[in-house]
Formats: sequence, structure tokens, C-alpha cells
Amino acid sequence: MTRKLIVGNWKMNGSLAANHDLLHAINAGLTSSSCQAAVCVPAPYFAQVQHLCASSSLLWGAQDVSASDSGAFTGEVSAAMLRDFGVRYALVGHSERRQYHGETDEVVALKAQRALSAGITPIVCVGETLAQREAGQTAEVVKRQLAAVIHTNGHCISEIVVAYEPVWAIGTGKTATPEQAQEVHAMLRHQLSAASAHADKIAILYGGSMNASNAASLLSQQDIDGGLVGGASLKAADFLSIVAAASQ
Ligand code: PGA
Repeated sequence: MTRKLIVGNWKMNGSLAANHDLLHAINAGLTSSSCQAAVCVPAPYFAQVQHLCASSSLLWGAQDVSASDSGAFTGEVSAAMLRDFGVRYALVGHSERRQYHGETDEVVALKAQRALSAGITPIVCVGETLAQREAGQTAEVVKRQLAAVIHTNGHCISEIVVAYEPVWAIGTGKTATPEQAQEVHAMLRHQLSAASAHADKIAILYGGSMNASNAASLLSQQDIDGGLVGGASLKAADFLSIVAAASQ
């Protein structure tokens, strides 16, 4: 990977007024040498974000996509609807979706498939809980989560982005050490290599309490191609510092 990718995950935060200020500040701070930056925003703000990012290098995406095409799925948003707004990325299988909405590995794999077939890049999130790490199950868990996506998506797998997000590091202020993260990233890269001749092209992002002070050391690891940033993506200065660290 040459150019790094930093993706903000706003989660269920924002308002018309706050988004306006945040995007103006981010757009003003991006330079031509910045790495690729993107934000994944709540669905009601797609039109606003599409408008505010129309002439910016900042890409944007959704935080989820339905595993179904259309029909009687109240509350769901389909990949075709995302495409209507020019959505570029869709997070799939974020640990909060797996935990609070019971999304299984199979559902996550279908969501990735729906996104790909609409020309949207799925950012497939994988990661172990603290109990799983302490039980020595990290490799088994993340490989199982990724294997389901590889199995369903076959050769299209080279079109995805992967995000390794240890659940115990999300929103907790506890970041994986660069070595801990690199170890898992190398394992994921190896798994992707067995499925695709283009695995070196697949960006593998780290997520979990990434911030302005720890970003550079995480991003210096060989298989860490960028970051998925929650809390720190809501403050323009913090987000831009991470983008700057990834642009070295
Ligand atoms: P965090 O969230 O940066 O606030 O830990 C990351 C994520 O959940 O994507």
C-alpha cells in the first residue's frame, strides 16, 4: 500500500449545524499531500454531506448497509439507496452492529456482497473481545470473521477494505500496541493472500482509540494501511492531525 486511508466513523453523532462546521474545518485543513481521508456518517445526513464534499478530496460513506436488496425490511437502507447519493464506502460488521444488532458473520458477508454489487467499497470490521483475547482466541475469531466474507465474495475480495478493531480498544482509550496490531494485521494479510493474488492492494485499517498522539506509531507498522477513527473524528483538529500523521 502506498497511500494511507483514514476513515472517520461518526457513529450516532452529529446535527445539521455540527456537521456543517466539522466538514468545513476538515475540508479547509486537507492539503494536496494529505493521505486519502473519508468520513462515515449517519444516513439522514447523506444529502448534506454529499453537498458539502462535492468539491473536496474528502470521501464519505455509510455506517451500515442492508443485507437485502429491497422490499419489506422496515428501517433498512439498501446498497442501491446508498449509491443514489454517491456513497463511496460502507462500514459492515462494526462490533457495535454485531453486539447490539446480532449481526452474524454470514449477515456481514452478505452486506459486503450487496455493497460490492452496487459499486460501494465495504469496510469489513473484525476484532476480538477482551475475553476472547485473554482466552488466546484472537487469531481464531478474526480469521473466522474474515473467512465468511472471503467465502461469500470470492475473487471480489480484492475490492474490500478490512478494519481490525479489537473490541476492548473501541471507545475505551486503551489502544492495541503497534506490535499487537501489526501481529493481527500480518495474519489478516496472510489470509487475504491465500484468497487473492492482489492482497497487497487491500487496505487493512486499525481502529480502536486511535488519536493524534498514537496514530504515527501505529501507522508506521508494515501492515497497517490506515485507521478507522471514532471519537477523534468528531473534532476537526484531531482528525486532521491523524490525517497528517498518515501523510508522512
Ligand atoms: P474509537 O472508535 O476510535 O472511538 O475507539 C473506533 C470505531 O469504533 O470505529
